[in-house]
Amino acid sequence: DMVTALPERPSEEHVGLVSALPCCTVADMKLRCYQGFWLPEGLVPAAAALQRRFEPRPSDVIVASLPKCGTTWLVALAFATLARRAYPPGAADHPLRRLNPHQCLPFLEGLFAGGREGKLDALPSPRLMNTHMPLAMIPGAVPAGGGCKVVYICREPKDMVVSLWHYLRRVHPDLEFSEVFDMACDGTTPYGPFWDHFLGYWRASAARPESVLFLRYEELLRDPAGNLRRLARFVGLPFSAAEEEGGVVGGIVELCSLDSLRGMEANKAGYMDPRVKFPREALFRKGVAGGWKSHMTPEMARRMDGVAADKLRATGLAF
Ligand code: A3P
Repeated sequence: DMVTALPERPSEEHVGLVSALPCCTVADMKLRCYQGFWLPEGLVPAAAALQRRFEPRPSDVIVASLPKCGTTWLVALAFATLARRAYPPGAADHPLRRLNPHQCLPFLEGLFAGGREGKLDALPSPRLMNTHMPLAMIPGAVPAGGGCKVVYICREPKDMVVSLWHYLRRVHPDLEFSEVFDMACDGTTPYGPFWDHFLGYWRASAARPESVLFLRYEELLRDPAGNLRRLARFVGLPFSAAEEEGGVVGGIVELCSLDSLRGMEANKAGYMDPRVKFPREALFRKGVAGGWKSHMTPEMARRMDGVAADKLRATGLAF
């Protein structure tokens, strides 16, 4: 998650490098503009290290997203799909019944920020990881003719901003919606600008559909089973006829549904990171499309639609 990756020991070299970068603050979170993206300050060295040192394996699967675009859902679906031989969705001891989805896989920049990336080498294949980094920070993931599989989820920007505000408010109750809204329009939300984040993955998925699968939160809501089948095919583990007949697809969709995850003990208590007190249950809110209507005036909606349309013009990506 965006705030679960505070570095344990920033070096002096890093402190010097980072403090020279443009800075802004959202809800007490300091962001630094690194190569055009507003990263949480503590993750700038991780971005540099990822660019230099991340070595994907062909069998790796990386779940990528901006915060509040459906990360937790996609993480759960991908994990349940990759782990289904060992843990059928109905298994009483399924990790998703014991752990928060984010505890089921490594957070790429979290490991790199903590100097713990060696842990990745120790993981057996196939490795499942997640990241909020723009694709530009993990160039090793999708070089022509190599790299690994990346599954990206994007979301209608107005709903993403509303979700981000609700989340940040859990720790900063005084935060005004208009403040987060303005930052999103300016591109200065965590890991933003959102349009450049979307576009990095969008373009890569157009150029190399076998390497990058581009999903949308709204599509996942409309047809979870159909998108789950796409995901499984994409990672090279399509559901067999026997699995289809055995209800495995429906079982995974049900296990990973908002109500199911919300009801797990592991998601009702505890924090994403003990140092920054975002409750785990804050990850599971409404889970709908179009919720922005109760938070934005028509003028605000027009402004944000205008920003998105302007930045995404002629890219083929639209909302
Ligand atoms: P809302 O705040 O609009 O309800 P992320 O996981 O990237 O932080 O995204 C959080 C958003 O995904 C929240 O949106 C949350 O409610 C929604 N969400 C979390 N788990 C979900 C699930 N299993 N199914 C559908 N939506 C889910």
